[in-house]
Amino acid sequence: MGEDLESTSKLAVVIMAAGKGTRLKSSRPKVLHEIGGKTLLAHVIDAARQLVGPADIYAVVGYQAEKVKAAVASSGIRFIEQTEQRGTGHAIQCAREAIADYENILVLSGDAPLIRAATLSALWNFHQAQQAAMTLTSAEPADSTGYGRVLHPPAGSAEVTAIVEQKMLAPEQLSLREVNMGLYAFKTAPLLAHLDQLTSDNPHGEFYLTDMAHVLHAAGEFVVAFRTPDAEELLGANTIAEMMALDAGLRTATARRLMAAGVTIFRPETCVIDSDVEIGADTIIEPFVQLLGRTRIGSDSRIRSYTVIDNCILGNKVLIWPSCVLSDSTIADGASLGPFARLRPGCEIGEDVHIGNFVEAKKAKLRKGVKAGHLTYDGANKHLTRIGKDAFIGSDSTLVAPVSVGDGAYIGAGSCITKDVAAGSLAVARAHQTGKEGWAYTRRARLNKKIDPPDSRG
Ligand code: UD1
Ligand code: CA
Repeated sequence: MGEDLESTSKLAVVIMAAGKGTRLKSSRPKVLHEIGGKTLLAHVIDAARQLVGPADIYAVVGYQAEKVKAAVASSGIRFIEQTEQRGTGHAIQCAREAIADYENILVLSGDAPLIRAATLSALWNFHQAQQAAMTLTSAEPADSTGYGRVLHPPAGSAEVTAIVEQKMLAPEQLSLREVNMGLYAFKTAPLLAHLDQLTSDNPHGEFYLTDMAHVLHAAGEFVVAFRTPDAEELLGANTIAEMMALDAGLRTATARRLMAAGVTIFRPETCVIDSDVEIGADTIIEPFVQLLGRTRIGSDSRIRSYTVIDNCILGNKVLIWPSCVLSDSTIADGASLGPFARLRPGCEIGEDVHIGNFVEAKKAKLRKGVKAGHLTYDGANKHLTRIGKDAFIGSDSTLVAPVSVGDGAYIGAGSCITKDVAAGSLAVARAHQTGKEGWAYTRRARLNKKIDPPDSRG
């Protein structure tokens, strides 16, 4: 697969992603909704990428095309504009020029994100072995309502004579259980030769790609069904509720993958773990943890409850206490953070560093062994705060950047540090304490709240 030049030059993947997704009742295009922490379209592209290079992947975009393109631009795929969305058949008509130089194409839907690369290659192999003009993927889900139904010749072979959309079904066809899953392989020459025979003569007034089954069959071309036992994988996300069901399924699969690799996840149903997260063996994830984006965690670490980690790289034997919020930062082996610590983007936390409760840091580099105790605040603004090796920052201190604390220096609790602190020295920066004996008694007496002084008590 993948880098095999001979097969990639024969094959392009076309992803239909131009629809609005009216049934979602959302202003965002359907394919940009997220499940498992990734847009629907990104899931489909990732599967396609395992068969062909990005230059052979074409997404048909239309509704909010610029937004859709921007969202997946980094993948390097190509785009085809379908300015007016006149149906799935029309989407492929818009791709005519782009696909003309390929021998075959696979057609996928941008709204069926669970598709696996293994299923795409199985379809592709079947299509080549059958030498079909069109191979459609079919299954028998528990409820076939809403899907196009697949018709075969009376003899009952895998050959297909037509696909009939739900609204076009004759009463006696309603009970047909084999449905079109919306994933196809086409030989490009017969497809392009007959593509203009599609009509919009149906209740939606759209050009249905599914009608190509009948058009090609009638032209004497071979149309065949690739039956898949796993209908789940081709489920579309047509409503928010359907999408959240897919999201739950994906996250369950991610947790299972990690547990199979030696990660302990307590109550995995309470955790939110994105699809691309990687975790080493013997790491423990406690309930109600969120691990997002491209977060990587080493081995033998522990992430305690209610922590949210987004796009961070954590080493081995790292301990994150409850309720930390960590974003776009790296944390080296043996470090411990929290509870209630916050790393804003760009922090580099060194080996064995300890960050205590309520500490907030941004773009801070803490070298090996640095301890930032509770309620220290680091990086008050965009200037840089440097904290040296083995430095000790007392609780409730404020480091007003730019400032640097030398190796091994001590900052007294409650200090507001505005000047550099030399290595090995102690800095205490707070107002001197003064005392006035008896002041409190005098004041209370004045307020008519008489209290006996301590030496007059029995
Ligand atoms: C389609 C099939 C149906 C099949 C089902 C499987 C047709 C006519 N019907 O129905 O037989 O059972 O998938 O899920 O194809 N799109 C465009 N441009 C358009 C219209 C749609 O790019 O003009 C895109 C959509 O964004 C979507 C995909 O094509 O990603 C499928 O369209 P959708 O409207 O969801 O088709 P279904 O009703 O699901
Ligand atoms: Ca759909």
